[in-house]
Amino acid sequence: MKILGINGSPRENGNTGAFLDMALARAAELGAETSKIWLGDKALRGCRGCYGCVEAKHCVVEDDFQPIFEAIMQADAILLGTPVYHASMTAEMKALLDRAGFSGRWAANAMKAKGENYQWAGSVFSGKVVAPITVARRTGQVLAFAELLTWAACNDCIIVGNTYWNMGVAGKGGAINPEEDAEGIGIMHGIAERVVHTVSKLNKE
Ligand SMILES: Cc1cc2nc3c(=O)[nH]c(=O)nc-3n(C[C@H](O)[C@H](O)[C@H](O)COP(=O)(O)O)c2cc1C
Repeated sequence: MKILGINGSPRENGNTGAFLDMALARAAELGAETSKIWLGDKALRGCRGCYGCVEAKHCVVEDDFQPIFEAIMQADAILLGTPVYHASMTAEMKALLDRAGFSGRWAANAMKAKGENYQWAGSVFSGKVVAPITVARRTGQVLAFAELLTWAACNDCIIVGNTYWNMGVAGKGGAINPEEDAEGIGIMHGIAERVVHTVSKLNKE
C-alpha cells in the first residue's frame, strides 16, 4: 500500500509538513509505504488553459508537474496538505490540482462535438483514495478544506472521512508549533488509520 503526502506549503518544514508527517508516520506504523512531495521547490506553474491535454492525453506544459503526476498515479492514496492562505489553498496546490484534474479527465475521455452529451468514463484518478489536510492560524479552514474535497469529488476519488475535519492549528506570526495542537495530532493519526483501513479493503476487492 502506497500513501503519498503532498505538502502545498511554501515552507517545507512548517506546520503543514509537520501535520502531514504525523499522518504519514502513523500510516507507516500500520504497514503503509509512505512518501512525501513538497511543492515549494518545484517549477510548477498554473494551468494555462491551452486544452493541449485534450488531444495529448497528458499535460503538455513541461515542468516539474510530470514527475509529481506520475507519483500520484503510483499511489493508492494521497493526503493533500495545504496551509490556509486567505481562506483558500495555496497557489502551489491549486496549480497542481488544476493541471492534474483537467489533464486526468481528458486522459480518460474525448472531447464531444457541440450538441453531444458527455457520459464521462471517469478519470485517471478514479478510485484513488484522497483525504484533505488543512492548517491555519485562525480562520478559513473549512473553505480551504472544501476546495480540496470539491476537487476530489469531481475527479472520481474515494474521499475518506474522520471523526473531525483534518485540520491543524498554527500559532501567530508564522510560528511553527504543531506539538501544541494535541487535538490536531490525534486527528492526523485518525485520518491515517482510516485511509489505511480503506485502502486495505479496496485492495482486497
Ligand atoms: C499569505 C498568507 C495568508 C494566510 N492566510 C491565512 C488565513 O486566511 N487564515 C488563517 O487562519 N491563517 C492564515 N495564514 C497563516 C498560515 O495559515 C499559517 O501560518 C500556517 O501555519 C502556514 O502553513 P506552514 O506552517 O505550513 O507554512 C496565512 C499566512 C500567509 C503567509
